[in-house]
Amino acid sequence: AESYPNLKRDSRFKEVNADDVKFFKGLLGSGSAVIDGVNQDASEDLEAFNADWMRKYRGQTKVVLKPESTEQVSKIMKYCNDNLLAVNPQGGNTGLVGGSVPVFDEIVINLGRMNKIHSFDDVSGILVADAGVILQQADDHAAKSGFIFPLDLGAKGSCQIGGNVATNAGGLRLIRYGSMHGNILGLEAVLPDGTIMDDLSKLRKNNTGYDLKQLFIGGEGTIGIITKISILCPQRSPAVNVAYFGLESYEKVQQAFREAKKQLSEILSAFELMDKQSQQLYKRATGAKLPLENEHPFYCLIETSGSNTDHDSEKLNNFLEHVMGEEIVSDGVMAENETQVQNLWACREGISEAGQHFGGVYKYDLSIPLPQLYDLVNETRERFQNNGLMGDTDDFPVVDVIGYGHMGDSNLHLNVATRRYDKEVEKAIEPWVYEWVSKRNGSISAEHGLGLAKKEFIGYSRSETMIRLMKQIKQLYDPNGIMNPYKYI
Ligand code: FAD
Ligand code: MLT
Ligand code: ZN
Repeated sequence: AESYPNLKRDSRFKEVNADDVKFFKGLLGSGSAVIDGVNQDASEDLEAFNADWMRKYRGQTKVVLKPESTEQVSKIMKYCNDNLLAVNPQGGNTGLVGGSVPVFDEIVINLGRMNKIHSFDDVSGILVADAGVILQQADDHAAKSGFIFPLDLGAKGSCQIGGNVATNAGGLRLIRYGSMHGNILGLEAVLPDGTIMDDLSKLRKNNTGYDLKQLFIGGEGTIGIITKISILCPQRSPAVNVAYFGLESYEKVQQAFREAKKQLSEILSAFELMDKQSQQLYKRATGAKLPLENEHPFYCLIETSGSNTDHDSEKLNNFLEHVMGEEIVSDGVMAENETQVQNLWACREGISEAGQHFGGVYKYDLSIPLPQLYDLVNETRERFQNNGLMGDTDDFPVVDVIGYGHMGDSNLHLNVATRRYDKEVEKAIEPWVYEWVSKRNGSISAEHGLGLAKKEFIGYSRSETMIRLMKQIKQLYDPNGIMNPYKYI
């Protein structure tokens, strides 16, 4: 794990002591709702809350609080604000930019026990639930009434819907259902001074002044703690088809995407890209058999979802016939049952874990105009082929450079899979990669956020004026700066 030689603990913040712990236990009860490493050694119990998913960032919190209600969150925040105790809101701790774990001794406020679903309206499809509900559970609940949660991603079994909102997570079906900014109808949040902001609207349309909830969506826990959300769930499609195919060039990938939009239009629900290296790494890490016999430089996964199986199958078959006939696609398979659907998706969703399977991973989550999107992967790979950091034995830190992502949203995931975290690797790619993206008017964070990882680099994607306005908002909501300090703002 990284230590932070360039960061200094802010001495304005008080260090948490036995009296504080006593207050928290009085408020939450002395059971498992307070993990206390102040009065006793609890380092083992604290580890899961201090270390991030990539094992790249590690904090030193001595206290984890697990409130059960909005009122408890409010009382915790008021106490922390009055006493200048810094806090780190935490959901499922699956974030990929170091935002979900403390940097120093910030108190972790984990939402895991706030996990009730409050209502589901099966006419409108509106779900109201606590922020700590696991994404998979929210989707299962919607499924019971024939609806779908409008977000899906590889971490669905452990990430929380509050964390999804706080990061404005994009995921695998944004192309179809749009972003959290559009689907969230309302939310309840606790501000740093304990104020409860109740904006748990269930209205689709509500043009009454500034839409303040939007600041919390993608705010990464820097201005308040989201405690409840209200979200519009679309109808679940009974007919789902998944196809996986191989292509010979990135040019052909773009042609296939164009054709998919043209021919599949309203039933297209995912268009994902995986390069050969990402699939090889997935195979090496898991031992899984890849769906196609022969190797291809690129692979795409297409999903369609619609209401009529015959209609959808006909469309997808016509599409596949066309792209194979025109030699846009070289080879392909279509899932014939639910297991095959899962297996094809695993080739895409399993890349995240494969990426760090060999020790560590440097992740770059970027928005790049489609025509140039894959150039970056080629150039990055060349850099590592030439700088002596990449090779097949343990002498080399880099295992491989892989490119994959949400092609349908112009969102590339460039990953450098390594055997260990190594500053030399980081220096070889940062800030070069951000300069590259900035020159092409892309974004240095398409969907994962800035957190701690990209704190230094926000200027590559946002103007000075915009950064100043962001700082003013932070100052307004959190004048003491206790919420998720040291992170991007
Ligand atoms: P955490 O990781 O706990 O927190 C993330 C950030 O939100 C932190 O800054 C935290 O302080 C803040 N936060 C959490 N909960 C709250 C709250 N209630 N109130 C205020 N702030 C809060 N992301 C994508 O966009 N698309 C993907 O396809 C995708 N796939 C992933 C696949 C895997 C295998 C993994 C490990 C991660 C993936 N991610 C993806 C990253 C993504 O950001 C998270 O999975 C998810 O959205 C974070 O939710 P969480 O509950 O784990 O939040
Ligand atoms: C994905 O699309 O798989 C995620 O954003 C996670 C990752 O970048 O690995
Ligand atoms: Zn992604």
